[in-house]
Amino acid sequence: MSSKAVNVAVIGTGVVGSSFLKQLLSIKSQITYNVILVAKYSNALVSKDYSPLKLDASSWEETVNAEAGNPISVPEIFEFLQKSPLPTILVDNTSNEEIANFYPKFIESGISIATPNKKAFSSNLELWNNIFSAKPSNGLVYHEATVGAGLPIIGPLRDMIQTGDKVVKIEGIFSGTLSYIFNEFSTSTPNDVGFSSVVKVAKELGYTEPDPRDDLNGLDVARKVTILARIAGFKVESPTSFPVQSLIPSALESVKSSDEFLQKLPDYDHELKQLKEEAAKENKVLRFVGKVDFPSNVVSVGIEKYDYSHPFASLKGSDNVISIQTERYTNPLVVQGAGAGADVTAAGVLADVIKIAERL
Ligand SMILES: NC(=O)c1ccc[n+]([C@@H]2O[C@H](COP(=O)([O-])OP(=O)(O)OC[C@H]3O[C@@H](n4cnc5c(N)ncnc54)[C@H](OP(=O)(O)O)[C@@H]3O)[C@@H](O)[C@H]2O)c1
Repeated sequence: MSSKAVNVAVIGTGVVGSSFLKQLLSIKSQITYNVILVAKYSNALVSKDYSPLKLDASSWEETVNAEAGNPISVPEIFEFLQKSPLPTILVDNTSNEEIANFYPKFIESGISIATPNKKAFSSNLELWNNIFSAKPSNGLVYHEATVGAGLPIIGPLRDMIQTGDKVVKIEGIFSGTLSYIFNEFSTSTPNDVGFSSVVKVAKELGYTEPDPRDDLNGLDVARKVTILARIAGFKVESPTSFPVQSLIPSALESVKSSDEFLQKLPDYDHELKQLKEEAAKENKVLRFVGKVDFPSNVVSVGIEKYDYSHPFASLKGSDNVISIQTERYTNPLVVQGAGAGADVTAAGVLADVIKIAERL
């Protein structure tokens, strides 16, 4: 009896995509995963006749670099995958919006998707509804790594909802960067470490985006909260449709370069210093959290104060933590661990690919 085989198309070979390919090409499984396309922005390697590309875990990158041709557009990828003779999984390891907007077309033609790309799930609600319209002939969609990287958050939350549980409150620290910054800033001694100094160190350590304002504006957290809120049953229109606290001082919003921003940020250290001192007087620390609160009908992102004894207060490094309180889990379920990084994120995506292949 021949074993099951699926075709896999991989877009994006950056931090996550490289680790994903290495892991995929190394796993031992009864299912055969045939990689038929590897695309990045600048070039693509595409199988001519849907036979598997000859790639192995240790040298796939050299092979792709040597054999890749012109870049391939999203409609061309769609054309190619539509005619795939085997069940097909598209793995989108980019943060590209155009690819995300194309998901409904892929899904409607039976192509399944596994991705860490938040864009499709956290933009307008119409796109979300199109993706999850659940027609029987549609491809499957798994996106565990869009929140908390490889941490089990989306799968368990969906299981709770599907089995009839009701979310009361979701609360979490969803940004590794802001986790590090607040863990260092709010618990730091000596007491006079400025917020701007911690941001600078975080940038030097490679924890921030190239422009730290992309972390400080809170939008990445808002996107993750949008995804969880929608799964929990909140009709969130977009990540800008609820209150999101930006850590960029309003006077610096129009500053052009990130260097100039970092240079001027110390002028505003007193604002967060005061907040930190107020929290310390109440035996509390500051954390940057996302919240979905059903009893008060609120979705929000911003700074909150937590008692020293709270699980969020003892967080270290750049870990994520999420607490889910439901009608069944009156004492919340808490998941904590690395919420970013190539290997854990890629493993989250690969686990989704395996789940899809098992269901196809
Ligand atoms: N890094 C993490 O720890 C982490 C954690 C959780 C989730 N994620 C998510 O995972 C995704 C990938 O992150 P990353 O850190 O791996 O990003 P990255 O290193 O910047 O890699 C992005 C890859 O996508 C390719 N790409 C972009 N637009 C494309 C297009 N239109 N067509 C084909 N290829 C395209 C790029 O091609 P070139 O190489 O040619 O530029 C690059 O290979 C993002 O959505 C991110 O939010 C990342």
